[in-house]
Amino acid sequence: MNVLSEAWHAVARLSDIGHKPKRIMFFGKPVVLFRSGAKIAALYDRCPHRLVELSGGKVCNGEIECPYHGWRFNASGYCTAIPGLIEKTPALRIPTLQTFEKEGVLFLSKGRPEHLPYLHCMEGRETRIKLVRSQTRSSVLDAAENILDATHTHFTHKGLLRGLSPKRQRVRVIITGGDGWVEACYTGEERQHGLISRLLEGPRLKTIGRFRYPGVAELEYWSVKGLVLATTFHLRQSTNEHVEGIGCLIGPRGGILDYLKSFAFGPMFSIALQQDRKVLKSSSKNAAFFPNVKPVIGPLDFLRRDIEAIMAGKLPEAANTPSTCFIDL
Ligand code: FES
Ligand SMILES: [Fe+2]
Repeated sequence: MNVLSEAWHAVARLSDIGHKPKRIMFFGKPVVLFRSGAKIAALYDRCPHRLVELSGGKVCNGEIECPYHGWRFNASGYCTAIPGLIEKTPALRIPTLQTFEKEGVLFLSKGRPEHLPYLHCMEGRETRIKLVRSQTRSSVLDAAENILDATHTHFTHKGLLRGLSPKRQRVRVIITGGDGWVEACYTGEERQHGLISRLLEGPRLKTIGRFRYPGVAELEYWSVKGLVLATTFHLRQSTNEHVEGIGCLIGPRGGILDYLKSFAFGPMFSIALQQDRKVLKSSSKNAAFFPNVKPVIGPLDFLRRDIEAIMAGKLPEAANTPSTCFIDL
């Protein structure tokens, strides 16, 4: 498996990149994205001349112009013009990153990945997809675990996702895994006691929470009719302290999401995201006061160790030892 930064990472929605250049952080380094013809170009965001941020400049005919002395660079990173210079432009180049565009999402890689990027769990089907963007102070491990962890929903999202009724349901959890992935499948929760499900969902067959290398956390909601709704979140460590996410909310065409889109799902989902951001930020900021304290992995934290292993390029324990247990959800 390749190094984390050499895998594909979803970094932006194409709709976020307009006429102006856009600066993003990619594994701690600034990168400028800009439109060049029909494609998006990605260069390290530093002019080789005085290391000024190119993203502070402008895009002219598909090339980026530095705001300081106006040197220009094309999508391949080559310097094409030095204003005022009569002789030939010297051969100067800014390193570029690999780009790939898929269903409105831009992926970057520092390497040359063998496979095309994975976007979401309903690929190849007739779907309705809504893309969201989020960022918080946290780590990919904590943020992925948060997305996949059912037991925080009664508290962090009380009323919205679960906890509307104090009654809990006995649920079976099956943990399985393989090379680069681990998942928890929950059955026995006929209905999720939260506002979102109550308003919008019928009886539930199963819920799956899955992590995939390099930073994908996805949830699938199944009814007897099949997969009715899914969220696939692409997370990446933009700086040492911050995680950025591009999320796909996906539903079959004509299914729940079509209905949700026209209704309250968007705002309710944003509230849930906001609640998670708050708790993740609190955890990350507070942990900095106790640098030697390791968080406890509780008996219901089914996926954390395996997510950690997968991110380190190792086979998760669940691949060799699938397990089953029961919890009150
Ligand atoms: S710093 Fe960019 S052109 Fe001089
Ligand atoms: Fe949450």
